[in-house]
Amino acid sequence: MIRRTFLMILFLAVLFPLSFQALSAQDSSDDPAKKLPEGKGKDYVASVCQQCHGLDLTTSSNRTVDEWRNVTNDMVSNGAALEKDEVEIVAQYLGKFFGPASSSDQPKDSKEGASASKVNVNKSTAKELETGLALTEKEAKAVVEYREKNGKFSTLDDLKKVSGVDAKKLDAAKDRMEF
Ligand code: HEC
Repeated sequence: MIRRTFLMILFLAVLFPLSFQALSAQDSSDDPAKKLPEGKGKDYVASVCQQCHGLDLTTSSNRTVDEWRNVTNDMVSNGAALEKDEVEIVAQYLGKFFGPASSSDQPKDSKEGASASKVNVNKSTAKELETGLALTEKEAKAVVEYREKNGKFSTLDDLKKVSGVDAKKLDAAKDRMEF
């Protein structure tokens, strides 16, 4: 009898939380904002960052706080309604939870790897420029096209001549560049 009660309790203790977990997991798949980790800034991200595109665009990438600040500023120029201090809160939040250090599925692109191996702007492919310098696909392609037409870049200022590339991003990434 005691044994049975024990088994019953064990059964409940194990199965109940599991079924609740399954239920809540299903709930949150309807609303991606529920998957955001708790922290200061979550509310801004949940309310602002899915107004124009899916939240997965944000949650599927890993960037440093600086890179997130650039992205968030870009989003403000796209029309995101955030004040300057709110941009900072969002950048800190995203850098903390979606930063290079917290990425488990990006082993070769960890922060150390990125800072150790510089991006050669004259030799890298568009894809490498995109990930290495945190450019958009369009910007990276513009760099490659410019390079093909006009020859090698020798300074950061040369690179800034490429139209359609955000100079602020280039400044932010200049320590990772090699010419
Ligand atoms: C007013 C509309 C709008 C809002 C609000 C907005 N975005 Fe965007 N987002 C865009 C557009 C348009 C693009 C594609 C063009 C571009 O890259 O600027 C984009 C692209 C992106 C990209 C991919 C481009 C890249 O540089 O890798 C990320 C990441 C991103 N947004 C994150 C965010 C985050 C984080 C927020 C909240 C702070 C946000 N977005 C809010 C309009 C918006």
